[in-house]
Amino acid sequence: MKLLVTGGAGFIGANFIHYYLKNHSEDSIINLDKLTYAGNLANLEAIKDNPNYTFIKGDICDRRIVDSAMNDVDVVVHFAAESHVDRSIIDASPFIHTNVVGTHTLLESALKNNIKRFHHISTDEVFGSLELNSTEKFNESTGYDPRSPYAASKAASDHLVRAYNITYGLPTTISNCSNNFGPFHFPEKLIPLAITNILEGKKVPVYGDGKNVRDWLYVEDHCRAIDLILQKGTIGETYFVGSSDPEINNLELVRKILKLMGKSESEIEFVKDRPGHDRRYAIDWSKIKTELGWEPKHNLDSALEETIEWFKNNEDWWQKIKSGEYQRYYEKQYYS
Ligand code: NAD
Ligand code: TYD
Repeated sequence: MKLLVTGGAGFIGANFIHYYLKNHSEDSIINLDKLTYAGNLANLEAIKDNPNYTFIKGDICDRRIVDSAMNDVDVVVHFAAESHVDRSIIDASPFIHTNVVGTHTLLESALKNNIKRFHHISTDEVFGSLELNSTEKFNESTGYDPRSPYAASKAASDHLVRAYNITYGLPTTISNCSNNFGPFHFPEKLIPLAITNILEGKKVPVYGDGKNVRDWLYVEDHCRAIDLILQKGTIGETYFVGSSDPEINNLELVRKILKLMGKSESEIEFVKDRPGHDRRYAIDWSKIKTELGWEPKHNLDSALEETIEWFKNNEDWWQKIKSGEYQRYYEKQYYS
């Protein structure tokens, strides 16, 4: 089988390519990635000479490149996106371009190329915000209620994918996953930002009162869920993917990281809150468990320890990212 992975040089896409090639040595992957600030070929260094892997540098909004990349492909796994909420608040334009126009371009090409499966990677953020101290969780029948430009652009892409299934019969599946963490996580997101700031002797910025709750899933568990959906998922269906850990707010999470790294709470710096900051996400993933037999294998504590080790052992990887454009973003986001 031949897969086209979009956004495979990013955090989850790269983890997926490693996972998939390890578990399906008979299949081949083409990775189409624009290499934006978040795309990094160092994430794929270990498999760059694998004969079953090909890289194409290109934009998913470019129909010519997309058509040629999709030629002879059986399955599309679509990760490519602008993915950071704070950047979408600074400038929503690239989010509309890549997440909406790019997804539409891929869907059109998938129809033309008779793709057997188009799997779209989405997020729990499209469902809005839950109350703190409630037991409510998002499930596959929760209505869309995106509240950031990022979430709105991802919601639009989900709607387009579903519309192409219903209207044109394109064989699609969608997964909406909670917050991932693990190797190759770009250090603008909370967990890798905290770990690398601590390693650099810098404070860890916590937005607002730090009581916002996210559901944290180790990236390998997400990759296994996607693989399972590709093998056994039902066309036209959506699957929610989340963790089995007790809820934890950002402040508790940062305290945990500090403790694991032998630092005190005085390293926390409360900074101004994110506008429209969603209070709580929680995921009911019973459908994928019942129908496909998936559940997470990793728990937060041990996976966090592994992730901290990975960042300690790959200082060169994140040091390179944290210079240049990242510095300008950091100044603007945290000090302007
Ligand atoms: P990322 O920002 O780390 O990587 C995105 C990748 O897409 C990069 O390699 C980038 O170069 C590429 N890309 C961006 N615009 C492109 C374009 N126009 N054409 C081609 N390539 C382009 O993102 P991530 O965290 O790996 O997220 C991957 C997907 O998973 C996204 O669709 C995101 O919405 C979704 N998701 C992420 C999380 C999370 O916690 N990170 C959780 C749930 C869902
Ligand atoms: P983030 O990793 O950006 O993921 P998302 O916004 O997709 O959930 O943020 C996770 C949580 O951490 C979110 O509630 C915002 C918060 N946060 C901070 O408190 N400080 C930070 O520096 C960052 C980047 C995020």
